[in-house]
Amino acid sequence: MGVTIRTARLADRERIVAISSQIWEGDDYVPQVIDEWLRMRDSEVAVADLNGSVIAFAHAVNLTPGYVWLEGIRTDTAAQGHGAGKALTEYFIEKATREGAERIGLSTYIDNLASIHIIEQYRFVRLASFILAEAKLDGPARPAAELSPLVSAVPFDEARAWILGSASITKSCGFLSQGWKFWPVARPGVVAWPPFDAAIGIRSGDGSLRSLLVVCRPDHGPGGASIDFADGSPEDLDVLVRHALALYPGAKYIQTMIPAGQAVHTNLLETVTGLEFDVWRHGEPDVFVYERAVGQPH
Ligand SMILES: CC(C)(COP(=O)(O)OP(=O)(O)OC[C@H]1O[C@@H](n2cnc3c(N)ncnc32)[C@H](O)[C@@H]1OP(=O)(O)O)[C@@H](O)C(=O)NCCC(=O)NCCS
Repeated sequence: MGVTIRTARLADRERIVAISSQIWEGDDYVPQVIDEWLRMRDSEVAVADLNGSVIAFAHAVNLTPGYVWLEGIRTDTAAQGHGAGKALTEYFIEKATREGAERIGLSTYIDNLASIHIIEQYRFVRLASFILAEAKLDGPARPAAELSPLVSAVPFDEARAWILGSASITKSCGFLSQGWKFWPVARPGVVAWPPFDAAIGIRSGDGSLRSLLVVCRPDHGPGGASIDFADGSPEDLDVLVRHALALYPGAKYIQTMIPAGQAVHTNLLETVTGLEFDVWRHGEPDVFVYERAVGQPH
């Protein structure tokens, strides 16, 4: 019998964690979020069953009615290539179609070749590229943490309006990251915003906001933080990123996704490189956001 897909039950939790522990040398985020995934509303964990045992799983969540985010697709390393990844992808596309959603989004890393193969086979379109940078707890960037008197908290409504008018949101094709989840904040049609944790900025003499940095509430467990938006002059970005590092002193990692639309990245890359964040692949765009209109044929 081939692969069959069904909704995960609480009893599948142990197997899901066991599969996840084989991936990325046990550094996968799924064990930190699986309990929340299993009890969240507007969301489903599905598992793939082959001959009576669970070999793969994935999670889909409605960011808002009409916009589905697909994430956490994993197959047991001993059972890859049996069609589970494709069956899970197809299952969620069909579910989104039945439920009348408009679009499905997802993100992946440049070296996940099997994942990219499946995504493109199911006609997801690559819309945005980002450069991943990270400051680990024991890494060289963290001593640069410094609270600045130039920086003040920005009301979330003002921050959202500023983001919509920024050059950075154009380079990210209208997506705002929340770690590895990318929200369609300025996409045509369906719009959804992530919950913010902190918005900080620097104002000009007349009180207008001239630069902004936003950290969203972490969606991959409380251990890390991510700078999900930062735009402004190189000098301001340096001050804002140092300030943000100081706001999250105990975070295991502080990462950021730097928008790199049409091969032009924002000032943030120079800032985090100067501060000695880890940037892989020599600053080549390495995180891709894909989207698919739900109504189109497979
Ligand atoms: C991505 C992943 C879920 C795929 O699971 P799977 O059950 O092996 O997937 P399937 O068997 O349905 O399909 C695999 C497809 O990828 C292709 N593939 C496998 N390795 C490949 C590679 N290195 N380059 C290109 N294509 C590749 C296979 O040929 C197959 O396509 P085909 O049927 O058209 O020939 C699995 O590789 C995995 O768990 N990877 C680690 C986690 C990950 O990267 N997740 C996605 C990013 S969040």
